[in-house]
Amino acid sequence: SNPSLLILPGDGIGPEVMTEVRRVIDWFGAKRGLAFDVTEDLVGGAAYDAHGTPLTDETMAKAQEADAVLLGAVGGPKYDELDFSVKPERGLLRLRKEMDLFANLRPAQCFDALADFSSLKRDVVAGLDIMIVRELTSGVYFGEPRGITPDNEGGRIGVNTQRYTTDEIRRVARAAFELARRRNNKVCSMEKANVMESGILWREEVQHVHDEEYPDVELSHMYADNGAMQLVRWPKQFDVIVTDNLFGDILSDCAAMLTGSLGMLPSASLGAPQENGRPKALYEPVHGSAPDIAGQGKANPIACVLSFAMALRYSFDQGAEADRLEAAVEKVLADGVRTADLMQAEGGSPVSTTGMGDAILAALDAS
Ligand code: NAI
Ligand code: MG
Repeated sequence: SNPSLLILPGDGIGPEVMTEVRRVIDWFGAKRGLAFDVTEDLVGGAAYDAHGTPLTDETMAKAQEADAVLLGAVGGPKYDELDFSVKPERGLLRLRKEMDLFANLRPAQCFDALADFSSLKRDVVAGLDIMIVRELTSGVYFGEPRGITPDNEGGRIGVNTQRYTTDEIRRVARAAFELARRRNNKVCSMEKANVMESGILWREEVQHVHDEEYPDVELSHMYADNGAMQLVRWPKQFDVIVTDNLFGDILSDCAAMLTGSLGMLPSASLGAPQENGRPKALYEPVHGSAPDIAGQGKANPIACVLSFAMALRYSFDQGAEADRLEAAVEKVLADGVRTADLMQAEGGSPVSTTGMGDAILAALDAS
């Protein structure tokens, strides 16, 4: 039977960009014989409006069974006043938690045609292609004890706990080494082993996994603060970076801005390999629901299209077809096709969301 794909367009520009991705998916079915069993369902505010919850148990079950989940974006001003328990982002958090998606893959890739868009100099970023692997389900965002309590002097104490176990470190390290083998065989692990116990354990465990299972991969270690500097100074020195939840949050946002617009950035969140060898997987653009441009046909669909390319590569073992799709995007950009978010101040005339979809399909046809 065909591999299965659950599509959750969500809110705001989510459904707009997903419409273009559906056309791309159909193209691969019609022209490359890559058929998927596609199911579409609600998440976020859209699910709340229909069912009073941002993710129903039925949708959760479908996500667990699907070979991959592709999500648009959730949230929007309409839902800002809702109780935290039914907020749109809770739907996304539930998916990540129940699917146990511990490895968050954030590529920072700079297409040559957009190099002048970066906040850095062209030669620093042109052709950049690095991957940050962020641990997503543990660390200081989840560690106990946590809370705000009174101290003895009438003030208060805010507490969070950075906590990592051997297994949590080893499994994300493996994800990074596996990725490195499919890329340029190079991993840099970042922590603060100079000042944090969890950092010492992180460094030792990553080194252990390397020595026992991946001695063929080149491994280096770097303090995360130096890593931040190096990312901005000369990012091309890196290939795969693996780091914890907190440092990964910051370093991946920093790396993202090396490459220009939020409308270009895909991501994948992967869990443990299942019986069929595929990891549990959720693919989504980094951007949110962009309420300021929703409903206007202005959204850039490329982040979501590239998220599907990641699904082709990491869930469906179709690396060559992922390359084909990424090359189509690159060609469209080289031809000067731009949505409004990719225009410099001096302007030009932007294409609509659908116009960008048309251009990508035309480039695929020509591929
Ligand atoms: P946002 O990413 O939605 O938008 C930030 C800015 O980038 C806006 O000016 C927007 O127009 C622009 N932008 C984003 N994606 C774009 C695209 N594909 N094409 C062109 N321009 C694009 O972040 P913001 O404004 O902080 O949040 C808006 C809503 O989205 C909130 O409700 C927030 O909670 C939610 N959100 C959801 C996320 C998710 O579903 N994973 C992630 C981030 C925010
Ligand atoms: Mg962040």
